Amino acid sequence: MAESLLIDATLSKEEKYKTLLPQIKALVTGETDLIANISNLVAALKQAMGFFWVGVYFNKEGQLVLGPFQGPVACTRIPYHKGVCGACYTQQQTMVVPDVEAFPGHIACSSDSKSEIVVPVIKNGEVKLVLDIDSDKINDFDETDQKYLEQLMELVASWY
Ligand code: SME
Repeated sequence: MAESLLIDATLSKEEKYKTLLPQIKALVTGETDLIANISNLVAALKQAMGFFWVGVYFNKEGQLVLGPFQGPVACTRIPYHKGVCGACYTQQQTMVVPDVEAFPGHIACSSDSKSEIVVPVIKNGEVKLVLDIDSDKINDFDETDQKYLEQLMELVASWY
């Protein structure tokens, strides 16, 4: 297992993702515990990409329940029909929200959160969890984030 991440802060966002993904794969190699691996995955994303908040919500007990995360404390339970996470769950697709204030029903866990991306992990047609990333900058997520985070969530789907 790799014990530390090597990410050059001067790289472009795309280059950072390209460097990070193999390191995350190395980090989880040999470990089968889902929570341990997701914990390291969110920590690696936070550390390498510098996001404001990174975490997962599991599809559990008929709602979305907070799992491993890095960043300020957050809401613990989200109904399927609420917020950006709920929209991601219901629509089974990535949600990119450039301005959270403009998203109807957005759940503000922190007033510092300005933009957001939520990516589902889908296995056999069921959303197992959603990866939620918040930025303290407006319009901070684009198709590059979507592309690489969806690749990463395909990796997570393979853990189920
Ligand atoms: N903003 C999310 C709630 C989770 S927090 O951002 C960590 C939403 O609207 O679903």
